[in-house]
Amino acid sequence: MTIVAESGPVSAPPRPAARALCPLPTAVDPMALALNENPFPPLPAVRTAMIESVQAANRYPEFLPETLRHLIADHLGVPDEQIVVGAGATGVLVQVMHAFTSPGDRVVLPVPTFEGYPIASAMTRLDVVKVPLLADGHHDLDAMAEAASGARLVVVCRPHNPTGTVESLGALEGFLSRLPSDTIVILDEAYVEFVAPQWRIDALALLERFPNVLVLRTFSKAYGLAGLRIGYAIGSWPLTAELWSMQLPFGIANIGLVAVDASYRAENQLRQRIRMITAERRNLRTRLRAMGVASIDGHANFVYLPGGDRPWHEVFDGADGVRVKHCADGGVRITVGGRSSTGAVLAALRRAER
Ligand SMILES: Cc1ncc(COP(=O)(O)O)c(C=O)c1O
Repeated sequence: MTIVAESGPVSAPPRPAARALCPLPTAVDPMALALNENPFPPLPAVRTAMIESVQAANRYPEFLPETLRHLIADHLGVPDEQIVVGAGATGVLVQVMHAFTSPGDRVVLPVPTFEGYPIASAMTRLDVVKVPLLADGHHDLDAMAEAASGARLVVVCRPHNPTGTVESLGALEGFLSRLPSDTIVILDEAYVEFVAPQWRIDALALLERFPNVLVLRTFSKAYGLAGLRIGYAIGSWPLTAELWSMQLPFGIANIGLVAVDASYRAENQLRQRIRMITAERRNLRTRLRAMGVASIDGHANFVYLPGGDRPWHEVFDGADGVRVKHCADGGVRITVGGRSSTGAVLAALRRAER
C-alpha cells in the first residue's frame, strides 16, 4: 500500500517473512516466575465447563456481557450496574483511560508499578507524573497527593506490584480525602485474594465514601485464568455507566463466562490453592532470609528482592535458569510457584555465590 503524504509517497513497511506459529505456553512450568501467574492449571470442573463451551464456538457470545456482569455482581453483593468487565484488568484500565481522559491529561503513577499502567498511559497519550515508592516498597501517598493536584487520574495498587505491600485503610482514606472529587482513582486489587484477613479492607464501603474510586480486579491471578483475559471494575454508577456505554459488543468470549461461573462454584478448592501459594511465599522468604537475602514482606503471589549491591541479572539469567521479572529500579520480582520453583530460585542464588 502506498499513502501519499504532503512530503511525497510513504510506503508501508515490507511484509515480514512468514513466521512459525508461536508455541503454546506449558500449563505447569516451575521456571515461569516472571508474570505472577497461578502455578496451577485450571481446576477439573472449570476445565470441563470450558471444554463444553468450545462446542458452540460457532456462536457469538452475548452482545454485551450482561450475564458475566450479573454473576460477578451477585458474587460480590452489589447491583449489576456497578460492574464493568473487560479483557483482563489491563483491558479495563485502558477502558478507564479512554472513557475519562483526553490526550495531555495528567496521570499520577507510583514507580515502579505494573507496567500495564505506563503502556496504557502512552497509548492514550497521557502525561505521566512518576512518584517513586518509599524505601520500604510502600506508596509515597503524601507525594502522590501533592502530585495529584490538576491530575485526571491516580493509580494505587493494593497489594502493590512489584513490592507486594499494602497500604493501611487509614492511610488510604487520608490520601483519598486529600484528592479533588473529580480526580479518578484506580484502586488496583489484582492480587486481593492473596491478602490475609487481618490486612483486608472493605473496598466496597470505600466506594460509598469516595465515588471517584474505581476498584480493579482480575481472574488472572488467584483464579488462575490469565489466558482467558477477564477483568472487571467495581465503581459508583455514574462512572460505571460511562464505562458500560463503551463496552465492546461481543467482546467477552463464552469460555470466559462459563469459566467464571465454574470457578465461583469451586471457591473452596480455589481457596485451598491460594493457601498453598501463600504458604509457599512464606517458605520462600524464610529460605531467602536464611541465605542472607532480604526481601519485602509482600501480600500477593510474588516476592520482591530490592535492588542494591546484588547483580540480579547475573543470578537469574542463566540459559536454563528461572525466568523472573527484573524491574527498572534494579530489584527483582519472583512469582511464587510450587516447592520445585522455590528450589530453582534458591539453587540459582547458591550457584551465584560459588
Ligand atoms: C497490579 C496489576 N494490575 C493489573 C494486572 C493485569 O492483569 P490482567 O490484565 O491479566 O487481568 C496485573 C498483572 O500482572 C497487575 O500486576
